[in-house]
Amino acid sequence: MALETDFIVIGSGIAGLRAAIEIAQAGARVTVFTKQKTDDSNTQYAQGGVAVVLSDDDNAELHEEDTLYAGAGLCDVEAVKTLVEGGTRYIQELIEWGTEFDREGGKLIFTKEAAHSRRRILHAHGDATGKEISRALIAKARQEKNISILPFTATEGLIVRDGHCCGVRYIDALLKAPREMFAKAVILCTGGAGQIYLHTTNPEVATGDGMAMAYFAGAEIADIEFVQFHPTVLSLENAPRFLLSEAMRGEGGILRNKYGERFMFNYHELGELAPRDVVSRSIVAEMKRTGTRTAFLDMTEKDEEFLKHRFPKIYETCKFYGLNIAKDLLPVSPAVHYFMGGMRTDLDGRSTVTGLYGAGEVTCTGVHGANRLASNSLLEGLVFGARAGAAALADSQKSKVESRKSADTDIGHWTLDIELSTAVKKRVKRVMWERVGIGRNADDLRRAIKEFEQIEQAKLGIASRNFVAVAKLVAQGALWREESRGGHYRDDFPERDDEHFQVHSIQKLGAEISTSEKINFVVD
Ligand code: SIN
Repeated sequence: MALETDFIVIGSGIAGLRAAIEIAQAGARVTVFTKQKTDDSNTQYAQGGVAVVLSDDDNAELHEEDTLYAGAGLCDVEAVKTLVEGGTRYIQELIEWGTEFDREGGKLIFTKEAAHSRRRILHAHGDATGKEISRALIAKARQEKNISILPFTATEGLIVRDGHCCGVRYIDALLKAPREMFAKAVILCTGGAGQIYLHTTNPEVATGDGMAMAYFAGAEIADIEFVQFHPTVLSLENAPRFLLSEAMRGEGGILRNKYGERFMFNYHELGELAPRDVVSRSIVAEMKRTGTRTAFLDMTEKDEEFLKHRFPKIYETCKFYGLNIAKDLLPVSPAVHYFMGGMRTDLDGRSTVTGLYGAGEVTCTGVHGANRLASNSLLEGLVFGARAGAAALADSQKSKVESRKSADTDIGHWTLDIELSTAVKKRVKRVMWERVGIGRNADDLRRAIKEFEQIEQAKLGIASRNFVAVAKLVAQGALWREESRGGHYRDDFPERDDEHFQVHSIQKLGAEISTSEKINFVVD
């Protein structure tokens, strides 16, 4: 007998939990699948904060303008409005639910980050914003009797019957056996795919499996070639890549080359606070010019007590690796941080497959365009998570859970391969870093695609198949986009080409790449 619930949410970061709470509060049952522990998600690692219009000198138009500028001509204006206008309400709700953002004299503190024209970033416990939001949302979700959370439960595929997504295939955590669960709708909130690159700020769980599941279920994948590199990631031999928050530059941090020279103003009038893609490429250019493997973040003009209090996690982590952030120059280089593209959805999380919804980094609503504005991602998860939950509920008012087994959902044929093959993982990560990285060209991209096709010839488990599939989608999109824009830079096409490429790339199983002027679409 197959299991049933009303709604399935995959992923327990900010988007997944917010969607689940929306559904549970309306009285429906919701089951949340999560690959590792409930709090193991990209949300947990978000340092800098969450951008929101709440301060007296700010307004929605300014936040929208900054988001559109960073997005380099590819944002959907309606999506940006939805984010910014919904953001204020949903952040206030998050505060009512117990999230403790940092305050001074009872008033919220706002910081500044790159490409923001106002101080509008809320943070918590200095540099542990994601962890605090995650704590509050998990506590709230645990109070909802309609929410069941299944930790350590990897989903491997979506069940689609007669064009309707009605369940998931997964591995039972205790029995280690394949199972199916059916529901009225499935909401994908699986986060991004940073792990397909050698160097990333993302945790181990960010393998892009949600994007792959959506693709194999027939959903459209949009703009996946736009990959954001975070400029300032701690770069030490024998130490994991650790994010040095953008907020450090917001608080006055300076980027220097190996001669100690400040260089960002040679590249952009906003200096250290230029959009992320500009800062990342400038660091790479400066590293090349001076023949070094890192640039340096200089916080030494700041008082040690201030830094300890403002960036406690960063202070302690750097200390562990022998660096005092108030005294030493911090070696940094860019690493993959965020995917602007993903499963194409409308403004309420509907994908192009009926019954399949999504929110957060796994999706592409058009809100980030070609490059995400710093600290817009927690906001995105929150706003679009709530909207996806509400839409799934509203659309399913009259539908029943389908739990008949059929040939195409026969679980007898598939194997227990929840583990990603180490060999596949290593090879894909290296190829992505070397050939589909911060500067791209047609030769490298073609060779990357060829390598991925070779890997696909082998008998792969589902996790490995998904991993390669996402890498190939990025490389294909990058090869198709013969221009440079936002998070996508082509050495052989260094200019932005609005005439031919101010459109979104759309990839779908079994079809050539197509384009669309808008991400938002009308569902019949
Ligand atoms: C950071 O703290 O720099 C990361 C914030 C973000 O990616 O928006």
